[in-house]
Amino acid sequence: MAEYEVRFDSHPEPIRVPAGTLLVEVAKQAGIEIQQPCGGQGRCGRCAVKVESGQVRRRSVLRLSKSDIDAGYALACQTVIEGDASITVPPPEAIQRRLTTDHIAPEAAIPEGYDASSAQSIRRVEIRLTPPSMDDQTDDWGRLCAAFRRETGVERLNASLDQIRQLGAILRSSDWHVALTFDASPKGEARLIRVQPADEAADAPLYGLAIDIGTTTVTVWIVDLLTGQVIRQSGEYNQQIARGEDVISRIIYAGKGDGAAELREMVLGSINGQIQTACERTKIATDDIVKATITGNSTMMVLLLGIPAESIRLEPFIAPINHVPRLSAIEVGIAMNSAGVVDPLPGVASYVGADITAGVLSSELRSSDDLTLFIDVGTNGEIVLGSSEWLVTCACSAGPAFEGAGVVHGMRADAGAIEEVWIDGGTYEPDCRVIGNVPPRGICGSGLISLVAEMFLTGLLDKGGNINETLDTPRVRQGHNGPEYVVAWAAESEGEEDIVIARVDIDNLLRAKAAIYAGFNVLADSVGVPLETAERVLIGGSFGKYINVEKAVQIGLLPDMPWERFNFLGNTSVKGAYLALIDSAARDEIAEIASAMTYIELSADNTFYEAFTSALFLPHTDLSRFPSVEAAMA
Ligand code: FES
Repeated sequence: MAEYEVRFDSHPEPIRVPAGTLLVEVAKQAGIEIQQPCGGQGRCGRCAVKVESGQVRRRSVLRLSKSDIDAGYALACQTVIEGDASITVPPPEAIQRRLTTDHIAPEAAIPEGYDASSAQSIRRVEIRLTPPSMDDQTDDWGRLCAAFRRETGVERLNASLDQIRQLGAILRSSDWHVALTFDASPKGEARLIRVQPADEAADAPLYGLAIDIGTTTVTVWIVDLLTGQVIRQSGEYNQQIARGEDVISRIIYAGKGDGAAELREMVLGSINGQIQTACERTKIATDDIVKATITGNSTMMVLLLGIPAESIRLEPFIAPINHVPRLSAIEVGIAMNSAGVVDPLPGVASYVGADITAGVLSSELRSSDDLTLFIDVGTNGEIVLGSSEWLVTCACSAGPAFEGAGVVHGMRADAGAIEEVWIDGGTYEPDCRVIGNVPPRGICGSGLISLVAEMFLTGLLDKGGNINETLDTPRVRQGHNGPEYVVAWAAESEGEEDIVIARVDIDNLLRAKAAIYAGFNVLADSVGVPLETAERVLIGGSFGKYINVEKAVQIGLLPDMPWERFNFLGNTSVKGAYLALIDSAARDEIAEIASAMTYIELSADNTFYEAFTSALFLPHTDLSRFPSVEAAMA
């Protein structure tokens, strides 16, 4: 048999092996240990190496994307030598990053060709007024409005009583030479934000806030409105979590006694705490923050504004308001210039809010004629299907399983959370990746998806999600909640208990993924297009940061499509808020998106239940919809 020379970057001498030798074997002969968490079954992708040159044959590339293969990657457990070759073995950490997070879009950059002076609704104008005299008895406010109209062409200037109270003193102390900061939206009207002596305003900065209120996390970006540059980004748990993990429990809490006021204070605490910290660290004065755009689901929006939320929960599930007018900061309670403008962005319905309209904008769904699926998975799964021409949307209640809640050993994607699992198909021993590289404390949403997919592919679970109790492994046993699988023994964990996944947890996850997949189907059916014809799948939300597409497909959460069609966009909601903050045209487009979306209420759709029941299996009752899973099982 022919023999070939294989060179490794980390080994001085070439290794001679017969044709057909597996790369892991060659590496072993060179004294290089390549990790094989899935037992060399080609399922985990952690044995990936880079073939710099030479001839190899990849027997399976299931765990590699097209760009991985183009870059030369091959699974060492699935690749054989067919000629001389030169191989680089990346450090394990590099493999993990490459396979899981390198597809996340970078945070927002200033749009190309952006010109703040024309795009921005916040303007500043310098005005020199003719002082009053015995012959000119025009009042101060009338004098300012007339000069403003002459200077800007804007017909109407609105101001608060407080601003009018202070006006006379400022006009006189500045010798009638002032600078006005105002918000020039809507057209033909302006809202006065600040009047300053002109010399004070010359170099004064102007800042804005892009705020996304998630059910779990509140994100705040501080933006320089003169340049469009994001100065600081921060995120913090929504303090409301202490009063309920999902929107329904918060609505119920808001309906009791002072619940609504308490929840409002809590979310303001999450927002204002971040603003204050950011201002201290960046030496920005809150008075220089003059505008904020806000996104969030419809419940988060109305709870922030102190609007009763009960109608969202009760049939026929109506949002109290989808298009909130521009408000002032003092009304809303945001820690910024009290006369600053707060612009809550428009939503579509009770369960499709501004987070989704802003997400559709920033994801650029409408920039293409291609059929595109946009999903934002959190406690609720919001889905949009469409193209530049049309948009349909729905929301499905996924429950908190994807956020690591409602599961016995579930936790948020924090340090100590198991975020990915590989199971050896021969021994049923798991290998876990834990956030922060510390002993595990629990399993987060992406860890659950990964775990259930691995259990299914290794035969630990059947199609119906039942744990196979006949297997010869101590990890399968009867627990307090019925059959369970031990993911980590207490001795290797941070707590005192074994970390397990029980049948009830699997049921929760199956229901959550079935709701989302059924939502995809109902939307596709409603417009008469097969789901598989979607050219792009855009995934927003922090969930998308950690999710492993292949595993999500294997459990039947995401449709089975080539990897290249999936794009992970991070927090599309706050990016949309940012674009609306710095560009009036983007803000108008969000309103247009909200009006253009056709909303389908799933509880009123009789095809939903059928689609949901079919999707309650792993990956689905109809396996032909998941050809890659069929191949992996084979
Ligand atoms: S060991 Fe090669 S893919 Fe898992």
